[in-house]
Amino acid sequence: MSDQRRKIIIDCDPGHDDAVAIMLAARNPKLELLGITTVRGNQTLEKVTRNALNICQYLNIDVPVCKGLGEGIVRMSPPVEERVHGDSGLDGPVFAPLTKELDPRHAVDFIVETVMASDTPVTLVPTGPLSNIAMAIKKEPKILEKIEEIVLMGGAYQHGNVTPAAEFNIYADAEAAYVVFTCGRPVVMMGLDLTRQALCYPEVVERMSKVKTTAGKLFVDLMHFFCMTQKRVFGWAGGPLHDPTTIAYLIDPSCIETKEMYTEIDITGGPSHGRTNCDYFNLRTDVPKNSKVAVKLDVDKFWDIVEDNLKLYDAI
Ligand code: RIB
Ligand code: CA
Repeated sequence: MSDQRRKIIIDCDPGHDDAVAIMLAARNPKLELLGITTVRGNQTLEKVTRNALNICQYLNIDVPVCKGLGEGIVRMSPPVEERVHGDSGLDGPVFAPLTKELDPRHAVDFIVETVMASDTPVTLVPTGPLSNIAMAIKKEPKILEKIEEIVLMGGAYQHGNVTPAAEFNIYADAEAAYVVFTCGRPVVMMGLDLTRQALCYPEVVERMSKVKTTAGKLFVDLMHFFCMTQKRVFGWAGGPLHDPTTIAYLIDPSCIETKEMYTEIDITGGPSHGRTNCDYFNLRTDVPKNSKVAVKLDVDKFWDIVEDNLKLYDAI
């Protein structure tokens, strides 16, 4: 019987929450993780790439890891987010010496080659700045007809987190986001409005500490650091676990309510630069709705999905 799993590529900047997204995707029976590509965001390109390799090595995830862009496609990238993710970009866990090797292909080439070679459509899951995705679309527009959906973490129709107007992933490369939101393929946007409902309180960490697998341990080691910094920087009692909401949506879309909207990216370089202007009240009737914007999370279902998928890894 042909493989019915949904093919995905995760493009990320690990990043504690990116790491949990990878954990949820790699062993889930509904998904086929074709590869992981990295982009500068939470930390430098070198650091997020090393983190992606360490995550795969520790969890025995045998997929290609390809390095991508280290800067935005037009503007210089903003400072890395070490207040939240630490100097390594994945502070907290201690990894064994790294032996997993980087795939020699550039992330953009990997995305183009993999999508074009696939016999069925591929879903792109960006959880960092959209530089690699935009470059892949520009390098080979033919991939668009083979992209099922772009399910991304980024944006906000309410309050930003890197400026009052903008969320980090979009702000970090707003021009790339403009390319993605105007490419014509369906965009499912897990913005801060949604991800700030996925708060990893201490009792969630306690619950996952009972999952005696490699992924359970890694989750706890990651969250101890991530929740400490989120409290210190933003005053959050529980850290918002942004990126895994993309994978939870793919595993069980009933856990997230979305609303179709026209979304436009502000690339004017002003005080709202990098904002996702989402037409929540459908005021713009002259343009097609280009995005499904996540509005409500079934929190209990979300944490059940997290726990169920941490259990799929090797016992410790
Ligand atoms: O704004 C939150 C997003 O920025 C998350 O994807 C986090 O990992 C960082 O990339
Ligand atoms: Ca991220």
